[in-house]
Amino acid sequence: MTFRRTKIVATLGPASNSPEVLEQLILAGLDVARLNFSHGTPDEHKARARLVREIAAKHGRFVALLGDLQGPKIRIAKFANKRIELAEGDRFRFSVSHPRDAGNQEVVGIDYPDLVKDCRVGDELLLDDGRVVMRVESTTADELHCVVLIGGPLSDHKGINRRGGGLTAPALTAKDKADIKLAAEMELDYLAVSFPRDAADMQLARRLRDEAGGSAWLVAKIERAEAVADDETLNGLIRASDAVMVARGDLGVEIGDAELVGIQKKIILHARRHNKAVITATQMMESMIHSPMPTRAEVSDVANAVLDYTDAVMLSAESAAGEYPVEAVTAMARICLGAEKHPTSQKSSHRLGQAFERCDQSVALATMYTANHFPGVKAIISLTESGYSPLVMSRIRSSVPIFAFSPHRATQARAALFRGVYTVPFDPAALPPEKVSQAAVDELLKRGVVEPGDWVILTKGDSYHTIGGTNTMKILHVGDPLV
Ligand code: G6P
Repeated sequence: MTFRRTKIVATLGPASNSPEVLEQLILAGLDVARLNFSHGTPDEHKARARLVREIAAKHGRFVALLGDLQGPKIRIAKFANKRIELAEGDRFRFSVSHPRDAGNQEVVGIDYPDLVKDCRVGDELLLDDGRVVMRVESTTADELHCVVLIGGPLSDHKGINRRGGGLTAPALTAKDKADIKLAAEMELDYLAVSFPRDAADMQLARRLRDEAGGSAWLVAKIERAEAVADDETLNGLIRASDAVMVARGDLGVEIGDAELVGIQKKIILHARRHNKAVITATQMMESMIHSPMPTRAEVSDVANAVLDYTDAVMLSAESAAGEYPVEAVTAMARICLGAEKHPTSQKSSHRLGQAFERCDQSVALATMYTANHFPGVKAIISLTESGYSPLVMSRIRSSVPIFAFSPHRATQARAALFRGVYTVPFDPAALPPEKVSQAAVDELLKRGVVEPGDWVILTKGDSYHTIGGTNTMKILHVGDPLV
């Protein structure tokens, strides 16, 4: 049986609202549904979340819900006639005092009081993800005067970045704070924080999540130049998060596209070293917004992220607003499976020379060492409360599937993001202790994952339901009577 190890995150939107399309997405392999809080009302998000959970349950699937906070993206205000067209060499001004709904060919308002303070003559500003580029020529008390370097259309509310980063608004806006409460109410599994600058931004998000009574794992979106400027800041951000996202849209604009590939590899590597899950996002199948088939370059991009050993690859507009959402998920699933055949996806020399920090981590890593070196091992069973043990296991490259056995809904969904981890609902405390191993292996027999004669590794702790309590690794021979 071949399991796809790399997980698929797909953004929901108008193209994927109907129960029919959602069902097809889930059947095609959707593992994590992303709700983008930049668009839509709380009621719309709640309705989508409910549908995802209903349809997933109907098919016995575990699909996690990820809420993505809008964050402090700095945007221009509106034009009197919705859009303008700029040509190279044109002069254009950004003004903190110009009326917000009356932009024109010469000037547009902007809701960012520190704009003039934060920008210098010579800075390059990128509008609409870099489609229009300008250089600051001079400044006044409330305006930047620019010259257009790359022209194009500019319309209402387009985003603005500075090359090299540094337009710094605090990471959590009033809307984000309200959405953190909404996420708690919806019992979301993951919550993505947009534009965090450093660990402190994540700590604040964590505090607000706790105050709201939420338990979502926090995903730091790495999308500012400051966040990747040095290893200390990047690692601090990773440590303060439960998972990270390589958010290549804004990141690419700020650091330049040429730097992006190297940084993607570094973020994935560092996330895994810190035992965190990692999502690779943005434009992975962009052409599939309008085409039923990806380009070779897109195939290669997804495959390379798989080879970098990302936990998940993500779809944005392709599944939210595109014409071929189901085809996009199907194509992604196919490409992931293909790339996972490559030997670098299956063999690990990771952490061989390293000291481990925790007892459960040691058991998890010993499990992977055994699974990768003892050919008869067909599956790993991890009895888990929070999903931590299988998360650590899945940091190690392997072709052996890892099954998270847990009685908790939140853990069942959360594991949907981890590479090579699959969920089986299971409560060891409901059984006499001597029946647990047999019952667990029976679950895999029932699913056709193993057969008599195979080996299975099972991890657990002395008592049930203790987070961090894993201290035992058993090697079980399927078919023998197990205790
Ligand atoms: C299950 C097992 C326990 C183990 C725990 C680990 O509840 O029955 O024996 O201690 O998982 O959970 P964790 O969240 O640390 O992976």
